[in-house]
Order: sequence, then C-alpha cells, then structure tokens
Amino acid sequence: MACIDLAVSRGSSVRKVGTPSSRLSSEYAVRSPQAVAVPRKTNFDHSKLYTTEKQQLKKSSSPSSPSDSPCLTTPASAKPAKKHLNFAQRLAEKVLDTVERNLESRHLRDESPLPSTVDPHVQLEGNFYPVDESAAQHGLEVDGTLPACLHGVYVRNGPNPQFFPTGRHHLFDGDGMLHAVTFDEGSVSYACRYTRTYRFREEERCGRAFFPKPIGELHGYGGVARLLMYWTRSLLGILDASQGMGMANAGLVFFNGRLLAISEDDIPMEVRITEENDIETVGRYDFHGQLKHSMIAHPKIDPDTGELFSLSYNVLSAPYLKYLIFSADGEKKAEVPVTLPEAAMTHDFAITKNFVVIPDQQIVFRLKEMLTGGSPVVLDGTKVPRFGVMPRYATSEEELQWIEVPDCFFFHLYNAWEEGDEVVVIGSSMTPADIIFKTSEVPRATLTEVRLNRTTGLSRKRDLGHLNLEVGKMNPQYVGVQTQFMYLAIVEPWPKVSGLAKMDLQTGEVVARYNYGPNRFGGEPVFVPRTSDPGAAEDDGFLLAFMHDEDSGLSELLVLDAASPSLQPVASVKLPSRVPYGFHGAFIPADELSRRA
Ligand SMILES: [Fe+2]
Repeated sequence: MACIDLAVSRGSSVRKVGTPSSRLSSEYAVRSPQAVAVPRKTNFDHSKLYTTEKQQLKKSSSPSSPSDSPCLTTPASAKPAKKHLNFAQRLAEKVLDTVERNLESRHLRDESPLPSTVDPHVQLEGNFYPVDESAAQHGLEVDGTLPACLHGVYVRNGPNPQFFPTGRHHLFDGDGMLHAVTFDEGSVSYACRYTRTYRFREEERCGRAFFPKPIGELHGYGGVARLLMYWTRSLLGILDASQGMGMANAGLVFFNGRLLAISEDDIPMEVRITEENDIETVGRYDFHGQLKHSMIAHPKIDPDTGELFSLSYNVLSAPYLKYLIFSADGEKKAEVPVTLPEAAMTHDFAITKNFVVIPDQQIVFRLKEMLTGGSPVVLDGTKVPRFGVMPRYATSEEELQWIEVPDCFFFHLYNAWEEGDEVVVIGSSMTPADIIFKTSEVPRATLTEVRLNRTTGLSRKRDLGHLNLEVGKMNPQYVGVQTQFMYLAIVEPWPKVSGLAKMDLQTGEVVARYNYGPNRFGGEPVFVPRTSDPGAAEDDGFLLAFMHDEDSGLSELLVLDAASPSLQPVASVKLPSRVPYGFHGAFIPADELSRRA
C-alpha cells in the first residue's frame, strides 16, 4: 500500500481514460526555463505533458502499444538489464502480454469514464505530473543567506510513474523518485533519480507497466485478473516474486549509515548520495535478513539511543502486524506479533520514552471483496478505533493495552509523550477516513491531541485549531518527548499545500504562518535544528520545503526561520527543473552522511 499522505480527491469530475499524449505540444518546455535545463533527454519528453489547470490532456479509448507507451526515464547510463529467459518463458511472456492488453482494453471500455480518484488525467494533473530524472547539477542560484547548519542533504520522496498510465492510476501508485538538494560548503546541488526497485527494473525491461498498482488497480475483477497475471509470471519464472513489488515512494529514513526509501508495500530500498551529490540505488535492504515482511514508511528513531522502532505488516495472514526494534547498529532486538481481528491499514505509529502507540483503525483489508467486484480496502464504520499502548521494550503482546478512541482516524502520528498516567498522541484526524478512495467529499484533516489513560483505560480527544493540516514535522531531537510546536502543511485548497503553519500544541493556536502566495504550492516541511546544543530552544532552527509556482513553472527550495513570528524565509534555492508535489523528506547532516555504511 502506498503512502497515504495527502488525500487526492481532486474534485468529483470523471473523464475518459486518455492515451499517453506523447505528441502534445511542448508549451511548458518553451515557457519554462527549468524544463529545458534537464540535462538528460529520455526517449519520451514527458515535460510536454505537464499541464496547468488551463490545459487539457488528450483523450483516447484504448491502451497503448509498447512502442508508444512513453518511457519517462531510462537515462543513457542506466539501460535496462538483459534478462535470460528460456524459449518457453519468452513465449509465455508474449502470450501473457497479449492477454493482459486485451483484458486492459476490455476493462477500460467497461469502466469508462473512470472515477477521478483513479483517473490518471486527474491524478497526474499539473504539478502532480512526473518529471525526468536529472543528474546532479551544481552551483545553484541562491537568494538570501543559507544558515550555517545547512551542511548536508535534503532528500524528498514522492511518486513519479515511469510510464504514463494506460488505465486506472492513483497518485500513490507512482514509482518512487527522490529529489536531493545538497549543501556542500556554500555550493548547492540538485539531483533527482528513480529508486530502482525490482518493479521499476522489470517494467523498464519490458517497456510497459504491468505490476499490480496497489490502490488504483487492485479493485474488483480487474484487480483479480491483474494479480493472477502477476502470479502466473512468477510461477513461470518470468518474475521473481521474492524481490517484491513495492515502489519505495513514500518515506525516508537515515539509519545506521543507510538512507532508506520506503513504502509500506515492501521491504525498504537502500539508496545513497554519491560523491558527486547524485543519487544511486544500492538495493533492497532487509536488515541483513532480519526483516521478512513489508515495513511501514514511518519508522521512528530515538535521537538518544539511535534505535529504530517500526511496524511490519502482512495483509495476507496473521499475525497481520509486528512491532520491531533494531539497535543503533542494525541488530534486531525484538519482534512482537500484534494480534488484530483482521488486517488494518497502519500507515504510522508513535513512540514515547517508555511506550509504543499502535493504532488499529477503521480502514481494513478484505481481499475477498475483490471477488464480488469491490475494493479490498474497506471502511468499517462499525469498528471502534483504538490505540494499543505497550511498553517500548515489551517482549510479548500480553503487555499491550488497547484503549478505544471513537471518531478518530490518524494517517500520521507526529509525536507522543507521557504525562503521568496518560500517553499523549498528536496526529491529524482525517474525515472521512477513506477519503483517498472516495471522490465526493471535501476532506478535513484536523490536528488532534489524543490522551490515552493507562489507569482508567479511557481516552480524551481535543482538536487543535481549525485549519486543514497534514504531514507535520517537529524538531527531530524531540521524538518521544513533549513538544510545544509542530510544523504542518496547510492543505488548502485540498489536496494542494498553500502554506505552512507553526502550531502551539498546548493552546491549539497558530503561532506563525507562511503562505506561499497566489498559485504557489508546496508540501511537507522538514525541521533542521540550528544547533545540537541540548539547551537550545525547541524552535531554534529552520524549515525546508519545496515550493512550486504554477504560473511561472519554477520550483524552489525555501528555507524558513522556524522561530520567527511569520516563518520568515531566509533563503531560497532556485531549482533547475520542476519538482512535482510529493510525500515525505528528511535532512541528513553532512557529518552523519559521512558515517554511511
Ligand atoms: Fe506518510
């Protein structure tokens, strides 16, 4: 399952599925100096497909052939690897390919027009549209003065489909692409690269997308057919299912010298920043065989111990969820199965200094729903959401205490801490909970405090402000301890991010706010402490956030003073090419990066 960061119900309109518009005019490329600065030309100039709300993509009624299926990548230095298949496998691959295309054509005819949540022309509209890879470009122009603490690399993950979808596609179904801005002794570089997952490499080899897309395609009979085709390829040895089918497009964490790109549908992918400030995929990283199942995209690292805490889940068989702890040097210290009545979507969790908080919410997985034409992702309105509180170093779930929290659905849990008998959890409560699968409602994402009383077994819930706020970050030195401030994306108009808010978690007030301006939008902020001095103020640092101007077509990386009353920008890095809206990021200081494995 891909990251559920920003719901993508962009209106309730529906359109017909379109042909990859590979022959559209290059209006964007002509008017945007960034578009022509991309150094590597791919075999399909998808920048021509970038549209603003004023433009429309062409429509068509049938899937494309391999020859006109637009490959959005394949830089010259990374040609698809040749695969050795025997004669029978090659023949089977061709037969399966033909069958699959026929199924796609029939399915599209039956489904047209598509709901907007899976219509690629809606999901990839404007600056949600993918970009080409870009090798490192150095000496970028900077307005203002960069703080001295910005010595390292800011990396942001996001979806960027390798091929323009020929059918159902949800934004979260895109191949993972990383955008890295490196600050190196006064010089600033930028690079963006795909994370070369097994899915990515196999589809690159075949010249078309055929792995099941977890949100867009795993629905009804078409989803069953897509899975059967995948399993058949695996049984015939054309694909190696043990290599996974994840996209690594959501989260990022730097742990034990390794930068990991993660989506909760697979084991993490290790990537690295090269000496040239480029990005390189190292490979799948299963913690040296210690991780057997998918890991959620939001592991937590204790800043004091360096330990990594996470959840692993398996939607096919119990135990559906496992709680994991890895020591700072990567050794698994604990694995605690968590018994759930059925598999539930668990995108995030939280830790305190002594406890872990594990949500069990209303979005559940019921694969059998596909056999009756439905979605396997179901909102169970009869289920009372609950949070499990367990000692951080528990060895058995017998120590886990479930506490019900009615009317609460957190995609993201930003932090948690202890106050007496209570565990306090901060997250954004989404309404409706299944907004990423529905099109008709305008969602609410309310910053919310939940208090879980371990003595009474009861909970209390409090709204913090009235803005639509998601993808929050805080000072990373405060993981698991009480924080006063949280920095969040203002997701208005949904799903675009029009600015950033600094929230006081005690008063629920907006203490500082920065609006990007007309037709300028961004995403998640990342907090970089100005100093490692433990006596420094919690908000003594800077926010990093990509911002895109939809009028000029230009993208920037903004650096904002987190302590100023207005989140005052102190610097802006002018980026050489467009950066699509994406998911989560991280800043890795140079001294930590130098200790990479
Ligand atoms: Fe997320």
